[in-house]
Amino acid sequence: MPTTQAPTAAPTTSPIGRSTPRVDGPLKVSGQAQYASDFRFPGMLYAVPVEATIANGRVITLDTATAEKMPGVRAIFHRGNIGEIFRSVLGPGFEGIVDERRPPFEDDVVRYYGQYIALAVADTFETAKAAADAVRATYAKEKPNVDTHLEADDEPEVVATQFGPRKRVQSQRGDSEAAFASAPIKLDQTYVTPAETHNPIELHATTAIWDAAEDVSRSTLTLYEASQGVVNLQGVLAQMFGLPRENVRVITKFLGSGFGGKLWPWTHSPLAAAAARQLGKPVKLVLSRKMMFQTVGHRPRTQQRVRLGASADGKLVSLQHDYVNHKAILDHYHEDCGEATAFQYSVPNLRVTFGRAKRNVGSPTPMRGPGAVPGLYATESAMNELADRLKIDPVRLRVINEPVIDESLGIPFSSRHLVECFELGAERFGWSKRTPEVGSMKQDGLTLGWGMAGCSWVAARFPAEASVQLRNDGTARVACGTQDIGTGTYTILAQLTGQKTGVPLDKIQVALGDTSLPPGPISGGSMVTGSVVPAVFAAADNAIASLLTIATTTPGSPFEKRPLADLALEGGRVFVKADGPVRGIPFADLLRLANLRMVSGSGKSEATSGNPAPKFSTHSFGCHFVEVSWQPQIARLRVSRVVTVIDAGRILNPLTGRNQIQGAVVMGIGMALFEHTSYDPQNGAPINSNLADYVMAVNADVPPIDVHFLDFPDKEIDELGARGIGEIGLAGIAAAITAAVHHATGVRVRELPIKIQNVLV
Ligand code: MOS
Repeated sequence: MPTTQAPTAAPTTSPIGRSTPRVDGPLKVSGQAQYASDFRFPGMLYAVPVEATIANGRVITLDTATAEKMPGVRAIFHRGNIGEIFRSVLGPGFEGIVDERRPPFEDDVVRYYGQYIALAVADTFETAKAAADAVRATYAKEKPNVDTHLEADDEPEVVATQFGPRKRVQSQRGDSEAAFASAPIKLDQTYVTPAETHNPIELHATTAIWDAAEDVSRSTLTLYEASQGVVNLQGVLAQMFGLPRENVRVITKFLGSGFGGKLWPWTHSPLAAAAARQLGKPVKLVLSRKMMFQTVGHRPRTQQRVRLGASADGKLVSLQHDYVNHKAILDHYHEDCGEATAFQYSVPNLRVTFGRAKRNVGSPTPMRGPGAVPGLYATESAMNELADRLKIDPVRLRVINEPVIDESLGIPFSSRHLVECFELGAERFGWSKRTPEVGSMKQDGLTLGWGMAGCSWVAARFPAEASVQLRNDGTARVACGTQDIGTGTYTILAQLTGQKTGVPLDKIQVALGDTSLPPGPISGGSMVTGSVVPAVFAAADNAIASLLTIATTTPGSPFEKRPLADLALEGGRVFVKADGPVRGIPFADLLRLANLRMVSGSGKSEATSGNPAPKFSTHSFGCHFVEVSWQPQIARLRVSRVVTVIDAGRILNPLTGRNQIQGAVVMGIGMALFEHTSYDPQNGAPINSNLADYVMAVNADVPPIDVHFLDFPDKEIDELGARGIGEIGLAGIAAAITAAVHHATGVRVRELPIKIQNVLV
């Protein structure tokens, strides 16, 4: 048969574990990557929501007359004319999840500032905005409750949460009260984290296209959306509009990040869809930055009491973690601050409880490292305070309390190398040179403070499906209905496919972000990588099996009539195992010989999340070592150095992995020093709802961040041992920074963010 290439050595370098630049990078830097608000369609209209200017009360009148008369205005929608929008219901697993369960315009009650009460639709964005501004509402106003002191509401022992019912006593062992009472050393402190707002640079955006059929249930809805979970959004919209699931298509090709804010559907998406349904035209709706603070979630305020009892030599005898988060009036958001508490350290007596306090705020939602990030801020801060009290080095205190198994579940860890993280971090940072006395370390006229903390983040798999094609031009295609939220999923899918097929990465087309593809996981929980490995590998294996069958059955093939088991594909070449790849031929030649454009295979991974009886406790671990510099003369506090060590199993792409951790550490500097959303007690509005007043860490705030990965593959997650990475980098960092600030200044700040007036004493 004709071969297009002389036999040469097959490329053997595996793309797995290599620092691979993003395969979608060129599309992004050349402006070709299309984000949700970039899509345009003939006849497209623009929608701008009308925001309530109270946070508690009712809409009494809505005057739309002026707005409706403006040239170019197509409609002003409100409760009376939007048409039916149904509630969606939580299904099994990760199905039908929304934080705000009330569909838009369901009643005339206003429960938070900025809640949408009407929607202006016009030919241009400018007209729609002017029309929205011209809508006049009158209200029966009541005083909003946005109190920052959180007392848990009186709720039953089992409460509804966004993921279903949960016990308020989250974890319990031994007798924590009695053990605390009799402990020689006691620490009892309350830590507070403020409401924080996700501020991805890309605003929430949606463009809805409704294709109407005589029989409404045959209509189709297509949404170009900024979503971290197209499959869930599809299911929710199908429920809200009474459509079969397959009649709804959601597309998110590129996301200008989300940090959790785009995980679950928000009310602007059904509003755009309903407007498209009523008007028979595509409708685009892009939120303003101010709306980003009001209607699309935030990390809720938390108040966490931590009680530690210890022996004089530093062994924990009791740990109690009782926390409260604020939530919205109708919704069930639980910020799982206790996520890591029950297994992080060894302690025989423990109790973790939660409560919620209703406030007139929009529904909270997961924000990078939900639960564990505020939770570990509190518990790791308490560990640092205990270390100071005991005059034990904080690293040593943690090593003393390193558990052998997950004591909350009574099962082993699949892979836990926290102590190695501490050792490597301490060495890279130079921790042994630390002198523990406050203000004792000076350099170039600055006071230095050194602090550290540990961290962890859950590792699991969501269900995932994928398909892989091998094509007769030597290219491959991999498809999975997950998203790339800026983390590198396009690149990881290409690497996995390249690993199995030997096709070079620049010849692999990656398709994701579309519900018409095999259903993929939400881009959340740092779980995409772990979830897609088995699915993509199985899909590639099935495509290869089909290819090899063709090799043995196609007339004229050099492998005709060979037993299938003799053949293999490696480096893009089919060969007889005994002869080695050099004697093989490119798979493209075989496909052409057989007159086939392609072979394809599909694969599935099962979920491990939600397993009621796991054999192993699966988590990633890590630690941060932080230096701050303090100049009391000019009240200048800087984070001047960070060393972070992460044990996240095998790292498939150190370049994108390091990028994730560095980004998370930057966010941690913001969490410790700057970020907080403030609500006006008079009208309940988030008052710093813009990028000038909501202060985040910027380049000038960011020191060198030295990131190290341990390399212990975790085969419980997938055959490569990759646990996925991202959120863990934000866990613990705020506790390390507050400890460093205490070491420099002597001031212990227990309510974030640290304000300069806190340390001017
Ligand atoms: Mo992440 S908060 O699970 O997007």
